[in-house]
Amino acid sequence: MSWVTALARPDIVALKVYEHAAWRPQLERLHANELPWSPAGGDPRSGVNRYPEPQPRALIERLAGLYGVAADSVLVGRGSDEAIDLLCRAFCRAGQDAVLVCPPTFGMYSVSARIQGAQVLTAPLCMERGFALDEPQLLERCTRETKLVFLCSPNNPTGNLLEEQAMVRVARALAGRAIVVVDEAYLEFAHRPSLARRLGELPNLAVLRTLSKAHGLAGARCGTLLADPEVIRLLRKIIPPYAIPKPTLDAALSRLTPEAIAAGKEQLAALLAERARLMKALAGLPRILRLWPSDSNFILAEFDDAGAALEQGCRAGLLVRDARGYPGLGRALRITVGTAEQNSRLLEAWS
Ligand SMILES: Cc1ncc(COP(=O)(O)O)c(C=O)c1O
Repeated sequence: MSWVTALARPDIVALKVYEHAAWRPQLERLHANELPWSPAGGDPRSGVNRYPEPQPRALIERLAGLYGVAADSVLVGRGSDEAIDLLCRAFCRAGQDAVLVCPPTFGMYSVSARIQGAQVLTAPLCMERGFALDEPQLLERCTRETKLVFLCSPNNPTGNLLEEQAMVRVARALAGRAIVVVDEAYLEFAHRPSLARRLGELPNLAVLRTLSKAHGLAGARCGTLLADPEVIRLLRKIIPPYAIPKPTLDAALSRLTPEAIAAGKEQLAALLAERARLMKALAGLPRILRLWPSDSNFILAEFDDAGAALEQGCRAGLLVRDARGYPGLGRALRITVGTAEQNSRLLEAWS
């Protein structure tokens, strides 16, 4: 029995997959109960009267190229949120298994785990060391029932990268016992190579990427899991058959042409320049007690009165994220870097 089969829910391993309508684009489709015409009132070229290609080949290949992995290591879903959910569903038996998260961190890991009925264990990041991983604590808290360990680098909401060697050590220590899921949703803002290049060497590593952040496609919903081909095959058994809507596929393919990738690099450079300007200006505001360095497209800041700052932002027509609910961040707000005009307006509201 492979380590993936041993780790996964036995009922998912045994599950007979749903047989979706065959994808044979060279033939005309009278097999999927679709309308033969484009929808009334819709764009006749959109193709949305047809079910889309399940796990679309062209997109998978483009993403494999973008992320530097083989196509059989790629699962594409509706945002990385979907991959998080699928991992919890495939590996955690309700009422028995657990996931481990490192707060303060992205909330969907524990929400997806709880929806699945899995226990959520925590190993908080070490605030005194700039929200670094606390490896000994993490490994100590990882029980035999822990199937997934979620690490977020750069971390949301703190903005920092986790040390690569620390993540590698955690993956090695948990080999065969748990999947270490490294969420790199914000990696493009950090100029750091992806851990995905080490997938071959660390079979229990899985990496989440998304087109929602630096690629500007949050509304399209397109995220990717990069992992051992056996993990990918298992998740393909449970992802809904037509997970990627046609408009999403079209938007993602357009965003991944060489020209769009080049233009995207310019947008990224502009965003990073704005991040630097905003960071510098925020550092000069007396009401901000602490600013954390950012390797992402947001800045975490501690205020003397976060409630008042939130309200002033709203009055200027700008919404920033209240981070006060996160453990240890009782006076913090998370500010997404906007356009130069938006950032200036926010600074003005807080001056
Ligand atoms: C760390 C992190 N991971 C994943 C996601 C979800 O991204 P997606 O839009 O790909 O579902 C977010 C969204 O904010 C995030 O902050």
